[in-house]
Amino acid sequence: MMSPILTLFYFFLFLKIATCGVQNNNFTFNGFGGAKLDLDGIASITPEGLLLLTNATRLMTGHAFHPAPHRFKPPTGETLSFSTTFVFAIISEYSDFSAHGMAFLVSPTVNLSTALPTQYLGMFNSENNCDAANHVLAVELDTIKNPEFADINDNHVGIDVNCLKSVESRPAGYYSGSATDQFESLNLHSGEPMQVWVDFAGGDMQLNVTMSPAQMPKPSRPLLSATVDLSSVVYDQMYVGFSSATGSSNHPSHYVLGWSFMVNGEAESLDYRKLPQLPRSKSKRKPKHIVVWMLPVAIFTFALIVAATVILVVGRRIKYAEVLEDWEQEYGPHRFSYKELYRATDGFKDKELLGVGGFGRVYRGVLPASNIEVAVKRVSHESGQGMKEFVAEIVSIGKLRHRNVAQHLGYCRRKGELLLVYDYMPNGSLDKYLYDQTRPSLDWARRFMIIKGVASGLLYLHEDWEHVVVHRDIKASNVLLDGELNGKLGDFGLARLCQHGSDPRTTRIIGTIGYLAPEGDYHERRVCVRSVPS
Ligand SMILES: *[C@@H]1O[C@H](CO)[C@@H](O)[C@H](O)[C@H]1NC(C)=O
Ligand SMILES: *[C@@H]1O[C@H](CO)[C@@H](O)[C@H](O)[C@H]1NC(C)=O
Ligand SMILES: *[C@@H]1O[C@H](CO)[C@@H](O)[C@H](O)[C@H]1NC(C)=O
Ligand SMILES: *[C@@H]1O[C@H](CO)[C@@H](O)[C@H](O)[C@H]1NC(C)=O
Repeated sequence: MMSPILTLFYFFLFLKIATCGVQNNNFTFNGFGGAKLDLDGIASITPEGLLLLTNATRLMTGHAFHPAPHRFKPPTGETLSFSTTFVFAIISEYSDFSAHGMAFLVSPTVNLSTALPTQYLGMFNSENNCDAANHVLAVELDTIKNPEFADINDNHVGIDVNCLKSVESRPAGYYSGSATDQFESLNLHSGEPMQVWVDFAGGDMQLNVTMSPAQMPKPSRPLLSATVDLSSVVYDQMYVGFSSATGSSNHPSHYVLGWSFMVNGEAESLDYRKLPQLPRSKSKRKPKHIVVWMLPVAIFTFALIVAATVILVVGRRIKYAEVLEDWEQEYGPHRFSYKELYRATDGFKDKELLGVGGFGRVYRGVLPASNIEVAVKRVSHESGQGMKEFVAEIVSIGKLRHRNVAQHLGYCRRKGELLLVYDYMPNGSLDKYLYDQTRPSLDWARRFMIIKGVASGLLYLHEDWEHVVVHRDIKASNVLLDGELNGKLGDFGLARLCQHGSDPRTTRIIGTIGYLAPEGDYHERRVCVRSVPS
């Protein structure tokens, strides 16, 4: 009589043997999210659940095996039948160019670390290719024509036994199965998902390979049908999986979307609704050729450059726009371009602002061409009647040369604006010294010298020049001081020119009340009446 403990022991022993005996004979992956595959090389499972064997990386291999081996041959007896189906996609960088392919394989080991990329598809290397010791059965999806392996073209499906030189191969495609049973070609590296079925019957040793675009029913006529004696190829236990390889200049991405397998039975159909999506940007919008995407990019870039140039040119035109009329031609030498003044004053920045007067703002600047320091006065001025005369006056004033007269260098006209350019006076105007408590006060000798200077300047204006210039607004703020504090008459904005001997009846009185000469104030018409004996 057996003790209960022993009974229990035998029971568990029986259970253990039973579970070992009933080895899993099938599996199905509708997408690989969470799947425990044996991955190596650069193979990975993407977050979307795609099995990415090799990605766009050069000279790489990728392998993915079901982690548990499957029984292919009982210790005694014939090779078992098996069936597998999978959906794959090869996304090439350039769909016109060939790229290296991939393979489904039945292998005695998952360690393919010595296998090479490129034409060896990550399965063999130059030494062990075609060696019977490999014990490998493969179905290759080859996208390169390798003459050394007697490849038929650069887009074929082949049955390989231990060797890349296929036992049997056909151009990729399928038979439509309709009345005409037409052959339809498929492009392996089109980036579109396609399905492959591999069916092996152990009894008559027939191996069929069938393919079609994904989601199409399995074509009834296989693409490849060969008699392959696997009895000396497969061991009792074999691993099933995939291998792929990239090239040196072509590095496509090899994807498997779903996979099912069964020993001694037909592999379960894949559920297309559960298959993960391929990265659309890479497959759907795959351009035909490098030129196809280069061209729009080039055109776009060109258009962008043209637009930017136009905006820049128009912008500069507007920014530096000036008003120049025909009558100004003769004043060419006295005219400054707005661009030059803009640059000189650093874009009329506030830090260059010297002062704000009743007539506008005055900026300090350095003329870029000559490095001369200048003062630029911006005066609002609507062009129209009087402008011509005004400019003529300014130009005339520019011809004045006297050490006590601030040199007027020229002008520039813009819409609604007049810019007057003078010599820069480092010490500013006299009123600053007289009224600004922060400045050192001038001694009497200096004051006297300034007054003499102003008088000397006035004498020149009234007596010694070819025209009579009546300043009419001589006040401290219009007396400028140079580096040595010499007084210079400035701001001729209000001056009027008279021909010697003319009778300027039209001359209006303008100026600052209190600074106008009494006789000018009183005898308006006599302002310019001084005549020079001819
Ligand atoms: C497939 O495998 C599962 C266990 O993983 C088993 O339960 C099922 O019966 C198998 N299917 C067939 C048709 O053998
Ligand atoms: C390819 O995969 C490797 C390893 O997973 C990764 O380091 C690399 O960035 C990937 N390259 C591209 C182009 O996706
Ligand atoms: C794979 O095989 C190589 C040589 O055949 C060996 O050096 C390496 O250790 C093996 N790797 C694993 C993980 O077994
Ligand atoms: C292979 O294809 C042929 C022809 O269609 C068919 O008669 C045979 O049963 C198929 N064998 C397998 C194992 O599917």
